[in-house]
Amino acid sequence: SSRPRALSGIQPTAGSFHLGNYLGAIRQYVALQETHDAFYMVVDLHAITVPQDPAELRANTRLAAAQLLAAGLDPERCTLFVQSHVPEHAQLGWVMNCLTGFGEASRMTQFKDKSARHGADRATVGLFTYPILQVADILLYQADAVPVGEDQRQHVELTRDLAERFNGRFGETFTVPAPYIVKEVAKIYDLQDPSIKMSKSASTPKGLVNLLDEPKTTAKKVKSAVTDTDTVIRFDAEEKPGVSNLLTIYSTLTGATIADLEQKYEGKGYGALKTDLAEVMVDFVTPFRVRTQEYLDDTETLDSILAKGAEKARAVAAETLADAYDKLGF
Ligand code: ADP
Ligand code: NA
Repeated sequence: SSRPRALSGIQPTAGSFHLGNYLGAIRQYVALQETHDAFYMVVDLHAITVPQDPAELRANTRLAAAQLLAAGLDPERCTLFVQSHVPEHAQLGWVMNCLTGFGEASRMTQFKDKSARHGADRATVGLFTYPILQVADILLYQADAVPVGEDQRQHVELTRDLAERFNGRFGETFTVPAPYIVKEVAKIYDLQDPSIKMSKSASTPKGLVNLLDEPKTTAKKVKSAVTDTDTVIRFDAEEKPGVSNLLTIYSTLTGATIADLEQKYEGKGYGALKTDLAEVMVDFVTPFRVRTQEYLDDTETLDSILAKGAEKARAVAAETLADAYDKLGF
């Protein structure tokens, strides 16, 4: 196909994806199906960088795929697969490990964040090198665009560096990718503490909007979002981070511009904004829950989508790996 390639991955997590994952990443996956030859994967190899129960991992991998489909990925228009089903990821991952400097890997801030959270002495070498596996994930598909949130920008930069390094040393092999980051939604904040990003591991329980929460829980979380002591509904990320975060979410889910919303709520209080946004959120999560459950109830269909996806992905990955191996002297 003459379309540019897109590639991204998302970890299988217990429970569900959150609103930050959806607005910052998954929504872009859905959009790029229309313009790109798109590959999306559930990155179970990345999940085992921290301890996993095998049965739970398998269930969470299906749950992740079901949510991606519920969010709008269409197996007719993109390739959806599970990372471990394509062994070339681990194979090219090793090669990339051998091209990365120890100091270079040590500068990855996600490792610092994540290892601090898991206890630095319990962090695995896999957690340390996971950005390098991510490099292989991207390069195997000759991706042009990598849709991610802001927190992943550094890893795409590492990918660019390693692609250029390999190409320089061994000859033109890999496409040098660019991050595809939509500025407005690159960082969605915790609803209770808008100074931190919404995140599975770091958010407060009430500040984390899980896409599979009961709709009434979602509404409650939105209505109890932290704002400020002012009353004016205006976008100002510095002075009014809580209100600005709500406006970003509202605007992205409805297509209304921030200016439209500021005008709509002129002279109205935060309560009105939150009540309306709660309704918007409920309208979004209600069908999302239903669709996710439909895929989970039919694991035969789900597994067959993933098997076909792995086959398509593998054809591309195997060709890239063969070329890289040949250039390396294997
Ligand atoms: P988490 O940070 O909760 O552990 P992941 O690391 O699995 O989530 O992130 C999956 C995708 O979602 C990545 O592309 C990441 O950049 C994006 N993402 C995660 N949290 C946010 C957020 N708060 N705002 C925007 N994008 C996010
Ligand atoms: Na993240």
